[in-house]
Amino acid sequence: MWNERYAAKEYIYGTEPNTFLAENAGMLHGPVLSLAEGEGRNSVYLASLGLKVLGVDSSEVGLAKAQALAQSKGVEIQTLVADLAEFEPEPGAYGAVISIFAHLPSVIRNRLYPLVERSLKPGGLILLEAYSEDQLGRDTGGPKDLDLLMTPAKITQGFPNCEPVLLREQVREVREGSYHTGEAAVVQFIRRKKI
Ligand SMILES: C[S@@+](CC[C@H](N)C(=O)[O-])C[C@H]1O[C@@H](n2cnc3c(N)ncnc32)[C@H](O)[C@@H]1O
Repeated sequence: MWNERYAAKEYIYGTEPNTFLAENAGMLHGPVLSLAEGEGRNSVYLASLGLKVLGVDSSEVGLAKAQALAQSKGVEIQTLVADLAEFEPEPGAYGAVISIFAHLPSVIRNRLYPLVERSLKPGGLILLEAYSEDQLGRDTGGPKDLDLLMTPAKITQGFPNCEPVLLREQVREVREGSYHTGEAAVVQFIRRKKI
């Protein structure tokens, strides 16, 4: 499905970074692991700030566009085609992990989040924005399956060894490509791994 979507010539989520990520990027240290990177807008942005980034996604078509975007902006990113249902990030390797609109089934999240927490260096940050369950009735983007939509509790329980930095649910204007357009209910989350 994602390969078909990304076969479009244009960048369907745009080439500008996610707004929540851009607002908080100053807090992040590298290397950064970007989960479900898609077409590269977020990795390329972080690389332009001088951070080393690995973008992981199951869509090789999306990641080929990510590399093309990086080249066009004169930055380097690492990409890896992998299914997050099986991906094992290296323990203690990352200064930050980001997850932007990475809507995964609970069975995948429950396996992945502890591995993500383990992959952070002490003091490292997890930064996540996702559509919340309140988005279900809206037609401005996101999956139509409650299991894939987030709540503060669903995210928080995945990171017990991290300290809260920011957690909010809000309705905000999302204009990030042709599939994410308009007022949307989101959860925004930043946690720091205990030192
Ligand atoms: C809504 S897009 C978001 C892309 C990107 N994070 C952004 O904000 O532009 C969701 C992404 O999740 C990826 N994805 C979905 N399930 C996945 C899985 N099991 N393993 C790896 N990537 C997955 C898709 O390929 C797609 O690129």
